[in-house]
Amino acid sequence: MKKTISDIDPGWLAGKTVVVRADFNVPLNGGHVMDERRIRESVPTIELLTNAGARVVILSHLGRPEGQPKAEFSLEPVAARLSRLLGKPVVFIVSPTGPEAAVMVHHLPARGVALLENTRFNPGDEANDADLAAFWAGLGDLFVNDAFGVAHRAHASTSGLAEAMAARGGESVAGLLMATELKFLEEALRAPERPFMAILGGAKISSKIWVISALLTCVDRLLIGGAMANTFFRAMGLHTGSSLVEEDSIDLAKKLLCEGRERLLLPIDCIVAHDLVDGAPTRAVPRDEVADDDKVVDIGPKTQALFAEEIGRARSIVWNGPMGVFEIEGFAEGTIAIAHAVAAACDRGALGVIGGGDSGAAAERADVVDRVTHVSTGGGASIKLLAGGRLPGRDSLTERA
Ligand code: 3PG
Repeated sequence: MKKTISDIDPGWLAGKTVVVRADFNVPLNGGHVMDERRIRESVPTIELLTNAGARVVILSHLGRPEGQPKAEFSLEPVAARLSRLLGKPVVFIVSPTGPEAAVMVHHLPARGVALLENTRFNPGDEANDADLAAFWAGLGDLFVNDAFGVAHRAHASTSGLAEAMAARGGESVAGLLMATELKFLEEALRAPERPFMAILGGAKISSKIWVISALLTCVDRLLIGGAMANTFFRAMGLHTGSSLVEEDSIDLAKKLLCEGRERLLLPIDCIVAHDLVDGAPTRAVPRDEVADDDKVVDIGPKTQALFAEEIGRARSIVWNGPMGVFEIEGFAEGTIAIAHAVAAACDRGALGVIGGGDSGAAAERADVVDRVTHVSTGGGASIKLLAGGRLPGRDSLTERA
């Protein structure tokens, strides 16, 4: 078992400086935070530390700036939003790796909070540079990793920092958010109540192949939607018109169909359109009637009903990935229907865990976040856990004695 922040004596924290890795990789538009959930979810950890009298220095990445400072990936708008959520000032430190960062941290008042600029403005973060990790570890007395969303990356600001902290004789512990995410995704699904169902969507089989194979060994049912269903349709010899298909994964899909047999359930009808634009005319067609110029953009009404019925029978449900081109309003209905079906199952006492990214956004749009057991803040990280993969951000934390 890994140590969590709850294992740290609050009395010890008074007067200490704590380095917190958060995942503030949030969507921005013209300098505005479009979805504050990841920021909001980090607040309990920050408040626990400041209430105990610690100074808090937060590190995060935002986007993929490729090791260069780029204005559109600045965390400055996030600092403003965090300040509003905490109801106190947040010092924004423009240089995340320069000596002035150390000086500014040193001058933080007791219970003060600082946010460093995007860790990925330095190529050493993604390269897991040991000197950079040692610099960040040197800013504090304790490392709290609360960045579940990026726990599948071995970067200087994640596992590198924990290793550097250990090299200094310090400890690294899971924050409250990280601990909650691990509790639901790792522990609760270790011995799930059955029937155990997984729902997978999104565009690519190739990026989810490991999770499909791993889930097929343990679930009672695996429902597949989204563009990845098209690749399965082709493996079944069906026409998919001009839909998105991963041509080089068709053989893989055939193999998974054999492995999964009756446990693997695909859409029986689809919504098709000619153009991927909001307002484009759509038709619902059986899956074997997709025309040459059709694009499959969502699951159809019969599939919605079939999937909802299946979900209604499950006692444990994990869902990751949209059922269609969810980002376009007119093609989001199937994904929203799944969000409602999972929430309804949770209302009846089932365990429902929704992965981050688009399915998390769908849960927000369907207004069901409070009804499902857990909505993860991590897309890639939750997929990796479900596939039985290791998370360096978690593995590098201090072992509980
Ligand atoms: C996410 O949004 O999935 C995490 O913040 C990780 O981002 P990354 O895929 O750019 O590492």
